[in-house]
Amino acid sequence: MSEMSDYKRQNAIDRLTLALLYLTRFPDSEGQRFDEISWKNYDFDAINRLDDADLILNPKNKKGYAYKYAYMTEKGRAMAREILQDLGMPLDDLYEKYEFRQIHLEEIEEAANIESICFPPNEACSREHMMERAAAAPDLFLVAIDKKSGKMAGFLNGIAVSEYEFRDEFFTDASLHDPKGRNVMLLGLDVLPEYRKMGLARELVYNYCRKEQERGRKMLVLTCHENKVKMYTKLGFRDLGQSRSSWGGEKWHEMDITLNY
Ligand SMILES: CC(C)(COP(=O)(O)OP(=O)(O)OC[C@H]1O[C@@H](n2cnc3c(N)ncnc32)[C@H](O)[C@@H]1OP(=O)(O)O)[C@@H](O)C(=O)NCCC(=O)NCCS
Repeated sequence: MSEMSDYKRQNAIDRLTLALLYLTRFPDSEGQRFDEISWKNYDFDAINRLDDADLILNPKNKKGYAYKYAYMTEKGRAMAREILQDLGMPLDDLYEKYEFRQIHLEEIEEAANIESICFPPNEACSREHMMERAAAAPDLFLVAIDKKSGKMAGFLNGIAVSEYEFRDEFFTDASLHDPKGRNVMLLGLDVLPEYRKMGLARELVYNYCRKEQERGRKMLVLTCHENKVKMYTKLGFRDLGQSRSSWGGEKWHEMDITLNY
């Protein structure tokens, strides 16, 4: 075979492997984490090439051996969807209906309005603090946009710090954001009532986890009411018990998820 047809063959294997990984991805044995995939029985070289091209993340142990699990990167997921569409496969997933991206500064008003619908006044982030937060860390302010109406359906935001414990100042002082911070303190997960119960919050959290894992962030930390502990546990977070936070004069649970060990 000529070098060109060798290349084409290899490229076809890589593309089909990526598409197959996308179709067969599953949550891990604890029913958590973000789009984990097992590449057992796949072409080993193709997996390495996809890893080298940042289309998947295939963690290695200290001896350099690859684990049998991998995670798709955002770039890999986008390419897999393109390949499947080229193959004529209808993609019935949230990415067809919603765009997940970082906030644009002119959308802060809309986000602040959603916050006032989703949270009572003593807990909601004010418009001013939302503005400061989005200006300081726009890349940590993920929104889901309804592609049909252009409306913001929900968002997840936070700031990066190198601390491990939650403090209420994170809610009000965006200057604490350090782009190189080891961890992200999550400050708000909101989905408008008419967009709830279809997996948008889950996808916002998973998308956030994948992005921050790729950037080498160690953990995500959040606080929530007792009645949300189960939801966050399902999404892969660990309950650390009562938090030091007394935001809004309430009691809070502190929870975290490890992205990189
Ligand atoms: C909480 C909230 C973000 C959930 O959004 P959503 O898009 O409806 O959630 P999803 O459809 O992605 O659900 C993800 C999982 O969490 C569970 N869940 C969703 N809302 C829940 C709730 N209020 N209580 C307990 N579990 C819940 C779902 O059952 C689902 O699990 P499943 O797939 O096993 O069924 C949304 O109701 C909201 O904005 N509420 C007001 C603000 C708020 O409380 N935010 C969180 C504060 S820490």
